[in-house]
Order: sequence, then structure tokens, then C-alpha cells
Amino acid sequence: PRLDEMYNSFDFETVAKSVLKPDAWAYYSSGADDEISMRENHNAFHRIWLRPRVMVNVKNVDASTTMLGSRTSLPLYITATALGKLGHPEGEVVLTKAAKNRDIIQMIPTLASCSFDEIVDAAAPGQTQWLQLYVNGNREVSEKFVRHAESRGMKGLFITADAPQLGRREKDMRQKYSQEDPDEIARNATQVNRDEGAARAISSFIDPSLCWDDVAWFKSITKMPILIKGIQTPEDAVLAAKHGCQGVVLSNHGGRQLDFAPSSIEILAETMEALKREGLDKDFEVYIDGGIRRGSDIFKAIALGAKGVGIGRPFLYAMSAYGVEGVEKLLELFQHEFEMVMRLMGVTRIEDIKPEMVDIRNIKDH
Ligand code: FNR
Repeated sequence: PRLDEMYNSFDFETVAKSVLKPDAWAYYSSGADDEISMRENHNAFHRIWLRPRVMVNVKNVDASTTMLGSRTSLPLYITATALGKLGHPEGEVVLTKAAKNRDIIQMIPTLASCSFDEIVDAAAPGQTQWLQLYVNGNREVSEKFVRHAESRGMKGLFITADAPQLGRREKDMRQKYSQEDPDEIARNATQVNRDEGAARAISSFIDPSLCWDDVAWFKSITKMPILIKGIQTPEDAVLAAKHGCQGVVLSNHGGRQLDFAPSSIEILAETMEALKREGLDKDFEVYIDGGIRRGSDIFKAIALGAKGVGIGRPFLYAMSAYGVEGVEKLLELFQHEFEMVMRLMGVTRIEDIKPEMVDIRNIKDH
């Protein structure tokens, strides 16, 4: 199909499935075990209903906002997903170019197919990028990487905490990882086991001893704001704030780690309440990712307190199917959907999106 026949994020998934090689499709689309959390991530949004207000002047709607102090055209960012070259020969740089053209923030993964510097070099002056960090068992490797990232202008450090051991993504494991090691991955990995799918082949260096005490050390080596990615309970969001983090990403890693971890949208309201109760909600930014596929999903997350949302697979699919133009088109679709929802909800600015605009009485009704 032509790009102008794409009407929503799901359309890109359908096309990607038909054009991706089986190992790439398996790696991108898989979730852990029975994929219950993966499906729940999007399904949970179906239990939240909207409370639209009418007779408001919504002639001019402005969906732009700031995230960690940087401007963005929408309260969404392209989250970190490894191995971009499985889907497109140019890899993550495709996402960088599309993000630039639509004023969107990109989170660069530790396990990118392109080198970190290639991805930064592809950005325009002033374009905001963040770094996702998998912490290496050899802390010197991580320290060097973090210092370098800061010197290259990264505006946030997102430490992934939900992967001390890799989840079992059986679709992926059934495939043998055959790609040549891209440079960056070879630099980070201590060993490459090609027998157990792409994820296991590249992730053996991740340190399972990472713990809260390490946050102080990261704070001592960088001035970047530090956020923990992969928070799955309000208690841990509170701990992140108490350890001096600037924020968290509520995430179950797209359902690829612990199956039966809750969806981030389900725990968002209670997380905001817990932070408020402890007086930790000031200058602390809460993001969520997982299963965000519609403008209304973004609206619900903002209403319940998120500063922004991360979106993963849909951008991989758009990139794989149509390259830079595909990712730009998907961003345009998200913009149109989100602005339409704002207008039909009777709000014109992000700051005016409030908890009373959503009905979460059935959020626990699985
Ligand atoms: C991921 N994710 C991820 N997270 C991370 O911190 N480091 C990583 O290297 C990766 N790699 C990765 C690869 C692929 C193929 C996927 C699908 C996901 C998780 C990612 O950042 C995010 O949490 C989810 O993708 C969000 O869910 P959706 O939008 O994909 O449903």
C-alpha cells in the first residue's frame, strides 16, 4: 500500500509484518512468555473513558509542550528500541531524521545498530536527544559512555531497570541471530551467543547487580537529569524520587520482560497520588510507555499526570515499511489524532488537560 493509505498506527504494523524478514519481525513484535502484559498494555486504555466538555472555544489548539525542559511539538517521544538495522539499512538514523523534521525527541538506545555518534551526528543543531543506558557489569564502560553522551549534548539519562535478566521472548528465541555484529553492539557485549535469538545475543553484558545505591554514583559522574526506566509500582517511583532522580518511566518494556507486570497506564494515577502524598511530585517528571497507539491514549496518559509518553514498536514498523517518510507520516497521524481529541474534549493547551477529564472507575476491571 501507498503511504497515503496509512490511516493509523496499526496500519504500519500490518505492512511491516509483510515486508520484514522473519527474524526482524520476531524480534520487534515479540513479548515475554504468553504476551499477556504486551496485549494488556494497549487493552488497558480501553477501560478508560473520556469526559468531554463542550461549548469551549477550541479554534486554536496547541499540542506543544516541554519534556525535561526541552520543547517538543507533542507530548510524545520516540523511545529506545535496539537493533534498528534489522528493519531498515540505515537503522536509528531514520528515526533521528524524522524526529528532526517534526520537532520530536528521540531516546537513543545503548544497543543501537548505528554507533552512538552516528545517531548524534544525524541530528540538527538544537535537536533534543536522550540516552537510554543499559548498565554494564564493567562500570568503566558505562562511565565512559555516560560522560561521552553528556559531552555530545544528551538532555537526559534513562537507566533501564527492568532487565537484570532478559525476558523469554519465545518467537525471537526460535530464530537464530544471524546479523553481523554492528560496531556499537560488539563494543558493549562481552559475548555473543547466536543460538538464542537477537535479544539474548546482544544483552549478556547487562549488570544484574544494579541497585538503588548506584544512583548516587551516576549523579556523581553526570549533570544530565537521571530517570529510571522500567518502574512498575508506585513504591519504586517514590524510591526513585527519594534517591534524587528527576523522573521515571513507568514501563514494562513493551511486555518483553516480566509477563503479568501491570500496564503503565493502569498504575499511573496511583503513582501520581503516592508521589504527592510524600511531597515528591514537584520537579519530578513521570513518563509512561507501552501500548500507546492512538491520540486518545496520549490524552489519557497526560490527563492522569504523565508529562509525556514513549512509543516504541509503531515507529519501528513505520521505519521498516517506509523509512523516514513513514516515520514522519506516523508522527503526523499522531498529531492529527491528538489535536482532534483535544478539540473534542474541549481543551486547547496541554496544561489544561486534567484528571477529571477521564473516568478510571473501571481501570482495575481486567
Ligand atoms: C525495546 N525496548 C527497549 N528498552 C530499553 O530500555 N532498551 C532497549 O534496548 C530496548 N529495546 C527494545 C527493542 C524492541 C524491538 C522493542 C519493541 C522494545 C522497550 C521500549 O523502550 C519500550 O519500553 C516499549 O517498546 C514500549 O512499548 P511499545 O510502544 O512498543 O508498545
